[in-house]
Amino acid sequence: MPFYSDEIIEQVRQSTDIVQLISGFVNLKRKGSNYFGLCPFHNEKTGSFSVSENKQMYYCFGCHATGNVYTFLMKHENMSFVEAIQYLAEKSGIKLPEANESEEAKKARSRRERIYQANTEAAKYFYRALRSAQGELGLDYFKGRKLSDETMQKFGLGYSLQYSDDLTKYLMKNGYSIDELTAAGLSVYDEKYGARDKFYNRVMFPIMNGSGKVIAFGGRVMGEGEPKYLNTAETEIFEKRKNLFGLNLARSSRAKNFILCEGYMDVISLHQAGFDQAMASLGTAFTMDQAMILKRFGRDVLLAYDSDTAGINAALKAISILRSCGLNGRVINMQPYKDPDEFIKNLGAEEYQKRLDKAENGFLFEVRILRKDYDLSDPAQKTAFYNEIAKKLCVFEEEMERENYIEAVSEEYGIPKDALKKQVISLVLKGGVKLPDNVADTTQRPGAQPKSDDNDKYAQRVLLTWLSEEPYKYKGISEFISAEDFTDPIYHRVAERMLRDMEEGPPNPAAIINMFEDADEQQQAAEVFHTKLDAIVTDEEKEKAFRDIVLKVKQERFDHDNKKAEGGLNLEEKLKQKRLMEDLRKRLRV
Ligand code: UTP
Ligand code: MN
Repeated sequence: MPFYSDEIIEQVRQSTDIVQLISGFVNLKRKGSNYFGLCPFHNEKTGSFSVSENKQMYYCFGCHATGNVYTFLMKHENMSFVEAIQYLAEKSGIKLPEANESEEAKKARSRRERIYQANTEAAKYFYRALRSAQGELGLDYFKGRKLSDETMQKFGLGYSLQYSDDLTKYLMKNGYSIDELTAAGLSVYDEKYGARDKFYNRVMFPIMNGSGKVIAFGGRVMGEGEPKYLNTAETEIFEKRKNLFGLNLARSSRAKNFILCEGYMDVISLHQAGFDQAMASLGTAFTMDQAMILKRFGRDVLLAYDSDTAGINAALKAISILRSCGLNGRVINMQPYKDPDEFIKNLGAEEYQKRLDKAENGFLFEVRILRKDYDLSDPAQKTAFYNEIAKKLCVFEEEMERENYIEAVSEEYGIPKDALKKQVISLVLKGGVKLPDNVADTTQRPGAQPKSDDNDKYAQRVLLTWLSEEPYKYKGISEFISAEDFTDPIYHRVAERMLRDMEEGPPNPAAIINMFEDADEQQQAAEVFHTKLDAIVTDEEKEKAFRDIVLKVKQERFDHDNKKAEGGLNLEEKLKQKRLMEDLRKRLRV
């Protein structure tokens, strides 16, 4: 992990208000001393995401995501620690000193940077090639597909020459190693042929991340051939499921919606026709991660998937994923054409706009597709169809929303409304049917669940949370509780710093998290400050609970020491422990 000094990290953190920062991404409302909003890290309908001005931390009561301004940017914006520091420093006008990084950190960071740079260099190279004498084939191809110069420029389209290693050679001449080029996904290496280009004799589509940095490529054969598109494999800077082709442009569109397409060419021809809100997932099915990205913008999502069976199935999946993220997708009807590209070529932008305006509600689309499986002239099949609809309607947990859908569907298919409603309610009451597929499960993020070996650490965590919230309590126990009593390595480090800080004043949770470099460790450290101190009602009970926790931490520390000592502690030491516990009990007046 790269390192700025602790002072600088802390200075930058203090110059940023977490409420203000997060408000830029999440709609927050003040509630008591905290702010609440919809958690950006998991899908939910009620706001369990809290931001504390005092602690300068965020915490989600649903998925337990927690941290400070840095962890927020790292998680939400996919920044590295250093990138987050630089971003915030710039915002607050703090000039950072030259980073004093560890060698290892420097390597890791510069490697990522080198991979970004190699991709940018490659994009420029392809771009120039398309416009060179040797690029004629590529240019003809794009022209044949009616792309204007402006469009080609806007998307940075390019061409990879017919030679099998000219890009590799070019980049190596410019100082890139084979290792870097294969890591960037630009070159492939084998014993027999050495390093060669991954892409050759294809028209090239640079893939950019949300902020417009080139992170990968798609390359299309000109005409027929397999594979039609060759794409960069996953690299350190390119995760397919977390990126969308065209998002860097679509995000600044003034449209109130996004148009989600299947392919590169769909996006490009839509932009050319003036629909600059178009984007596509990257040659794979639409993912939950992508849905969560779109959700941040709070715009409608319109699906422009192919009209064939594969496209319909992909649209059904996408609707279901969008819904599980709390988004309502709508479907654009492109009949009688296959995709936006064809549609616009034939009927033009104005007609397409009309189709956008008439995009079909995702749920009604699902039902309409379902309908094709049934012969409604057969009473048995008709009943089965209605039952299937009733089951689907159970996904709507809110009554009013459900009512509206019941009404819409019963009207559309001539189903007696009351009967349908009755059926839905009986299914809901049975509680059997909920989400139609297992999409919901994937919203659970790894690491979001409290770990199972938590039990013995629980007391330690409660004590630390408690002390961070009521630091004056430390006075009463400082004599016999020390950092050594926190046996978990992370809690130990937290305690060490926190107890030291508390000699002088209130502890500073957000600063303490900064001591940890690894995101996972930061998460665990942050959890320390958010253990729920529930079931503690009256002040008297509270006092007792506090004493119990202190005793528990101490006892567990002793147990821990016992276990660690080979063959157990000797009798004398055990007796000493026992005396200490008794003494402690007395002093705490239990
Ligand atoms: P399509 O086959 O629909 O291509 O695949 P397209 O984008 O409409 O392109 P044209 O108009 O035929 O030239 C949709 C998307 O699926 C991915 C690409 O991202 C493509 O844009 N794909 C398709 C691949 O990654 N590899 C392939 O071989 C085919
Ligand atoms: Mn297509």
